[in-house]
Amino acid sequence: MRVVFIGDIVGNVGRETVKRLLPWIEEKYRPHIIIANGENAAGGRGINAAIARDLYDWGVHGITMGNHTWDNREIFDFIDDESRIVRPANLPPGTPGRGAMIVKGNGKELAVVNLIGRTFLPPSDCPFRAADELLPELRKRTKNVLVDFHAEATSEKIAMGWYLDGRASLVVGTHTHVQTNDNRILPEGTGYVTDAGMTGPRDGVLGMEREGVLRRFLTGMPSRFVVSEGKWILSGVFVEIDEATGHAQKVQLIRTDEDSWIAS
Ligand code: FE2
Repeated sequence: MRVVFIGDIVGNVGRETVKRLLPWIEEKYRPHIIIANGENAAGGRGINAAIARDLYDWGVHGITMGNHTWDNREIFDFIDDESRIVRPANLPPGTPGRGAMIVKGNGKELAVVNLIGRTFLPPSDCPFRAADELLPELRKRTKNVLVDFHAEATSEKIAMGWYLDGRASLVVGTHTHVQTNDNRILPEGTGYVTDAGMTGPRDGVLGMEREGVLRRFLTGMPSRFVVSEGKWILSGVFVEIDEATGHAQKVQLIRTDEDSWIAS
């Protein structure tokens, strides 16, 4: 099974980039299933129903979230009825939505789990133990499992990769918006990348306009962050999974931008 994971979609530029490049991705990687992190899709913070619908229409099969899950209040209107979006599984019991889902696409099934880290992020339950609880049940249904670990610290993400080696097909980190070039297959068959990177405005600071971010660094005073416009970057990960074992056979980085992309 071939799967493409699209790194954090940021704002309007990110959404337009997904719309424009999905036909190219489909032709180049021929994915059965496309998953995208959408926690910054609505103006940089959260997601709403209309944006989720657009992503599905353009070819995305499932959406993962993160620390900005609740920042757009419209999500409360639909997340409980939404079978194609996961928010971090290690939030307190009773939190709306779900932390794991089975995504279907082109006759294939992929279990998708969203976890959030505890280093430099708001408090949450233990992501490692949450994975221990979820994975056995999911793996009864399918051995093909993608885990989006939304976390800040590279160490926490690398530790999760080792912890889940042999139990997930791909452990992909999100949240930092900077792609890491450590894609590999771990010894027990789990594909791993510390961070998939960002799909959004290339020339800001992690997708935000430079001016507001610089002002805060230079003055220490509060300043409003605004989603950047301008040229785009698309970042993601391609994984090929042996469906019988759930092991990754190939893990490749996807990264292109407005200056280097040439439509084929
Ligand atoms: Fe995030």
